[in-house]
Amino acid sequence: MNKRKIREGIYWLGAVDWNRRLFDSLIPLPDGTTYNAYLIEGREKTALLDSVDPPMADVLMAQLDEVPKIDFIISHHAEQDHSGSIPLVLKKFPDAKVVVTQKAKGMLMDLLGVPEGDFVTVVDGETLSLGNKTLKFIYTPWVHWPETMVTYLEEQRILFSCDFFGSHIASTDLFVTDAGRVHEAAKRYFAEIMMPFRSVIEKDLEKIKDLDIQMIAPSHGQIYDRPSWILDAYRRWVGAEPKNMVVIPYVSMHGSTGMMVDHLTSALVEKGVRVELFNLAVTDIGKLAMALVDAATIVVGTPTVLAGPHPLAAYAAFLANALRPKARFLSIIGSYGWGGKTVETLASMIPNLKVDLLEPILCKGLPSKSEFEALDRLAGNIEQKHKESGFTKP
Ligand code: FEO
Repeated sequence: MNKRKIREGIYWLGAVDWNRRLFDSLIPLPDGTTYNAYLIEGREKTALLDSVDPPMADVLMAQLDEVPKIDFIISHHAEQDHSGSIPLVLKKFPDAKVVVTQKAKGMLMDLLGVPEGDFVTVVDGETLSLGNKTLKFIYTPWVHWPETMVTYLEEQRILFSCDFFGSHIASTDLFVTDAGRVHEAAKRYFAEIMMPFRSVIEKDLEKIKDLDIQMIAPSHGQIYDRPSWILDAYRRWVGAEPKNMVVIPYVSMHGSTGMMVDHLTSALVEKGVRVELFNLAVTDIGKLAMALVDAATIVVGTPTVLAGPHPLAAYAAFLANALRPKARFLSIIGSYGWGGKTVETLASMIPNLKVDLLEPILCKGLPSKSEFEALDRLAGNIEQKHKESGFTKP
């Protein structure tokens, strides 16, 4: 795709990756993604904001073909999907300086071998004039690594946010046209890479709250020309109380755990508690991560395999521990054939979660009347805990 004009002297550059289905060999990308770079031409100087993932560097380099000079390369984030083509850009424009936070400088030297003399570091709040356009750099750590910053273009009131507010959607749309679709993709993205750092991100949001932001131009997905809804969504994701909702990631081998999950789900629904089920044998882990943004309770369902939890349940526990969701309560249900340490093993895998462990329910073979009654009691306990905690919103 050719470069596209956003405003006078401001252009979208970058690549649309329609075919990518996995990020970091982990995160599902059902809708592909984009790597957005931006070109800002001032009266005196020109800046390129970010680059693209190296496999698509030729697209960016073709867009830069007719650009006569670049004075500054603003690197918001050292991860290679945005920084990886900077060495190629520097080769074409050897006099350009790479503008970064102090932390990003070291990371780009380590990750890409950019020479120390090619950098200009900026402090939080520093400005850089391109002539008639002023870039203000604002440190926003942990969106998504510790070195991240954003750029606010003062005259046009555009926030260039890199991963912050991004969404993985490949599209020819330059601006958001389907807010519902982008909301889901942005929430998925937040859940997968930013949820663990939400207390820092809350401070990042506070830092930008007084800016007059007319447009947010992220480095993945489409540009927000009406940005208030995505700012509101982020405030909810980081700060709102959990919802009256239970997430049940589960796996069942011969049906016993599945029967328990079905029974618990019905009991919870009868008590007015929302449930989202994720059969780990087939689920998209991005969907599970999104549900964890809101859930007050997690119930892991697992059979016992080789004396411990099923490996897929262990994977879900590991993921939840890494994502550090807001959930306050957790339980474990499942089945076994002759013994094991399923509960102890799973419980030891979630030290990061600040949850009360509700009494686990394991049954030998098929669940019987007493286990179904125990599941009813668990549902009642969850309902009561949510009410006591004020988690009443669906
Ligand atoms: Fe889009 Fe953290 O890189």
